[in-house]
Amino acid sequence: MKNEYIGIDAGGTLSKIVYTINGKCHYKKMSTADIASLNTWMKQSFKQPDIHITGGKAGAFLHESEFINARRINEFEATCEGVKWLLENNSLLKDTGPNFMVTNVGTGTSIHYIKGNSYERIGGSGMGGGTLLGLSYLLTGEDDYDTILKLGNNGNGRLLNLTVSDIYSHEKPPISGDLTASNFGNLMQMKQEKLSKEDYISSVVRMIGETITTMSVQAAERLNTDSIVYIGSTFARHDVLKNIISGYTELRGKKAYFIEHGEYSGAIGAILNTGLQKTVQ
Ligand SMILES: Nc1ncnc2c1ncn2[C@@H]1O[C@H](COP(=O)(O)OP(=O)(O)OP(=O)(O)O)[C@@H](O)[C@H]1O
Ligand SMILES: [Mg+2]
Repeated sequence: MKNEYIGIDAGGTLSKIVYTINGKCHYKKMSTADIASLNTWMKQSFKQPDIHITGGKAGAFLHESEFINARRINEFEATCEGVKWLLENNSLLKDTGPNFMVTNVGTGTSIHYIKGNSYERIGGSGMGGGTLLGLSYLLTGEDDYDTILKLGNNGNGRLLNLTVSDIYSHEKPPISGDLTASNFGNLMQMKQEKLSKEDYISSVVRMIGETITTMSVQAAERLNTDSIVYIGSTFARHDVLKNIISGYTELRGKKAYFIEHGEYSGAIGAILNTGLQKTVQ
């Protein structure tokens, strides 16, 4: 009898793998660019695995793989299913309630709404983890993820922005003066001061965090829910980004949730595959 189950979420940047051996759950991440290594590792680690695969690169993986019996799972369904499972297993579903938003910040960003046992994709944005890597590279020449993470944690992400108070310089602003009026809008500052790599990357992090929050909060308002669950590898080890997002989400009257192993939602949902229903009534 088979006792090896594998769920793979082959994303645009990272492949997230969840596998159970004799009932115990393991988590692993690999670069999707190196599909050959993922294949080799799977051949070495498993004899006759039962594989469920999802994500935009599932087709690419299956094209190069010998695991032709792998079952394809819809990415959005798997993601929502995995989030529900993680919330339940972390006793968080009682806090979020049955209806909530899921914002998946991967290479790009996808926003979903879960209502009980059904889900719907609400929208998305090209602003995501890929933007963090790409813009950081353009501005600083750095292309190593850990270096970008470290530099971004040590800069001032507000220096390059214009706040509402900067614009309403001689009168009381109609909304909070501390809010960002324009990300990267402070041209004067850029011309006057030599800015550090840390400041550039922090500004990118802040712009992504603020934009993603704005989109998520607006969707949550439209769908009448207060809970937003943020997932995706972009948050892994990125406390600064998490803090920007949770602070701004709360400022806008909503509650932000980050769950342990949230970035594995797609892989978990693929392995479970109990058939969450599409389309919210
Ligand atoms: N070790 C790492 N190497 C590269 N990027 C990383 C790493 N750890 C975290 N990241 C961040 O995570 C992002 C990818 O997140 P995630 O794995 O959720 O996306 P994906 O599933 O590959 O993409 P998509 O869902 O859009 O197809 C990267 O763009 C980067 O910002
Ligand atoms: Mg993904």
